[in-house]
Amino acid sequence: MENVFHIKHPVLQHLVTKLRDINTKGYFFRKYIGDIGIFLLKEALKDESLSKTSIDTWIGPGEFPVLEEEKYVFIPILRAGLPMLEGVSQIFPKAKAGFLALKRDENTLKSHLYYERVPNLTGHTAIILDPMVATGGSLDYALRVVKEKNPEKIISLNVIGAPQGLEKVSQNHRDVRIYIAQIDKGLNDRGFIIPGIGDAGDRAFNTD
Ligand code: PRP
Repeated sequence: MENVFHIKHPVLQHLVTKLRDINTKGYFFRKYIGDIGIFLLKEALKDESLSKTSIDTWIGPGEFPVLEEEKYVFIPILRAGLPMLEGVSQIFPKAKAGFLALKRDENTLKSHLYYERVPNLTGHTAIILDPMVATGGSLDYALRVVKEKNPEKIISLNVIGAPQGLEKVSQNHRDVRIYIAQIDKGLNDRGFIIPGIGDAGDRAFNTD
């Protein structure tokens, strides 16, 4: 899994524990997911090359380093990816966003696509946002759809995953770098990450 980057940091562990806590609900659940998204975005772009921009400063004009915000296209997987978009948009308010909605069938555990609005990605870096990688079916599906849009590069930011799901995605998509805050033990017989954070979509939007 050399393209899976497990970012081990006390702040991330702290935030994941907040998510595991069943008393963390709705707004706060979304906030912590957004915070982790920001953290992972910074990690993922650690070696990104900067360009120069001319700006006026308080002591006159000058050239300074910038990232090309418009180059990034955030793609949250609905629903649970939406709070990650809220987080990362604070860093890059000028980035584009595309949307993919996938729902996992509770019995077969297979994902189906029910909405897609991803722009053409030629010359852009696609940044997929989804808190959970359980069987890996949803992320695998999302990556196949995103690749059809011809991105220059794809990064995936994920909060928590199971080893088998990450293994599957890593094998099928060697060209994608996956940044994740927590890798848990495995899955239960209903395909939930154990110990995990429960159903992130339901917990984020108070629907459980
Ligand atoms: C969850 C989660 C992932 C997917 C992970 O979404 O947000 O997209 O399951 O499972 P997988 O790796 O086994 O495919 P869900 O289908 O519950 O939809 P929701 O976000 O609307 O609740």
